[in-house]
Amino acid sequence: DIYDIKAREVIDSRGNPTVEVEVLTVGGGYGRAIVPSGASTGTHEAVELRDKEPRFGGKGVLLAVDNVNSIIKPELIGYDSRMQREIDIIMRELDNTENKGKLGANAILAVSLAVAKAAADNASLPLYKYIGGCNSYVMPVPMMNVLNGGEHAGNELDFQEFMIMPIGADSVAEAIRMCSETYHTLKNVILNKYGKDATNVGDEGGFAPPVNDIREALDLLNEAVKTAGYEDKIVFALDSAASEFYDKEKGKYIVKGKAMTTDELISLYKEIVNEYPIVSLEDPLHEEDFKGFATITKELKGIQMVGDDIFVTNTERLKKGIEVGAGNALLLKVNQIGTLSESIDAANLAFRNGYGVVVSHRSGETEDTTIADLAVALNTGQIKTGAPARGERTSKYNQLMRIEEELGYPKYAGKNFRCPF
Ligand code: PGA
Ligand code: ZN
Repeated sequence: DIYDIKAREVIDSRGNPTVEVEVLTVGGGYGRAIVPSGASTGTHEAVELRDKEPRFGGKGVLLAVDNVNSIIKPELIGYDSRMQREIDIIMRELDNTENKGKLGANAILAVSLAVAKAAADNASLPLYKYIGGCNSYVMPVPMMNVLNGGEHAGNELDFQEFMIMPIGADSVAEAIRMCSETYHTLKNVILNKYGKDATNVGDEGGFAPPVNDIREALDLLNEAVKTAGYEDKIVFALDSAASEFYDKEKGKYIVKGKAMTTDELISLYKEIVNEYPIVSLEDPLHEEDFKGFATITKELKGIQMVGDDIFVTNTERLKKGIEVGAGNALLLKVNQIGTLSESIDAANLAFRNGYGVVVSHRSGETEDTTIADLAVALNTGQIKTGAPARGERTSKYNQLMRIEEELGYPKYAGKNFRCPF
């Protein structure tokens, strides 16, 4: 029943072009989706097709747009929009590469998500209910990135994300309020310590003070949480994005300008999880180090060890991780793999093997709120989508509050964020 598909070039939160697709069904169902874009991307992610022409500094996506309008659209017209998996497979076969490099994962994902939204609209169902059915009821704990470093900020902090998790809240609405209050308190803490120009924010809306020491950053978080009055309700999560400060030639990590071995870095993690209320570490080691990931997962028992660049939402890489015990949670980014059905497959593979799942935004985001619905649909219990500031981040949190209000018996994952059911 797909009646029309139309792609166009729009811009993301960094002002870079990205793909938007609209899908219309014969029954009047309408879906629109916009694709996000990362900065600290994993080597094994599906390909984001860029024009490499002078316009937009080479980042134009007119090729991807054209691939939707002239190659994908003619194949999908007339298809039942509810046949998500078949539609995703047709696009993968049209592309016929391992990494969606021919048509572009940005082209394919935009269609995949817009089809789901059109089907949901056609059935007069909210997206989370269309994807998850009557079993979707868990509201995820937000991982709010309130302090930015790495590739996302103009400071010298090596670790990329310092996040707060309000596990002691009773609802998503309360969780968001607690984080917002803490975020504003953090701004004052930073203002008092480093002055006004230190309160500018990074790509994901978190502050980016002129700090290069990890403990100094964690102390700021501690002070903000304490001052806001949430000491026993908010815990911390870190995303080191370690591939970004790993020196391949030396085989070492460069932290504060000094080379560190894998063992030394693991020791640092051990120390800081003892000194601070940290419950989750993401990409603590670089993306090819399955062995190191297995070691740190074993040695830091009790800590959630999330794989982002190492798994890239890819079931093959996740399988490899599961086999060796690398990590115990999957970071789920729909544009790392390029279709909705493959993203769901990755989440299911994770759940079945006792891994947690964190649905995630990208550092380059848009007003598209699909991931909020996806986190509820799959009962993941966790979502990371930036600070409680900047529209492309707050749009997801606001969508979660709408969903929570709409659900008859929502359950906030809280302390059980890793296995909420
Ligand atoms: P990215 O960062 O979107 O720039 O890849 C997010 C993350 O590393 O989790
Ligand atoms: Zn990450």
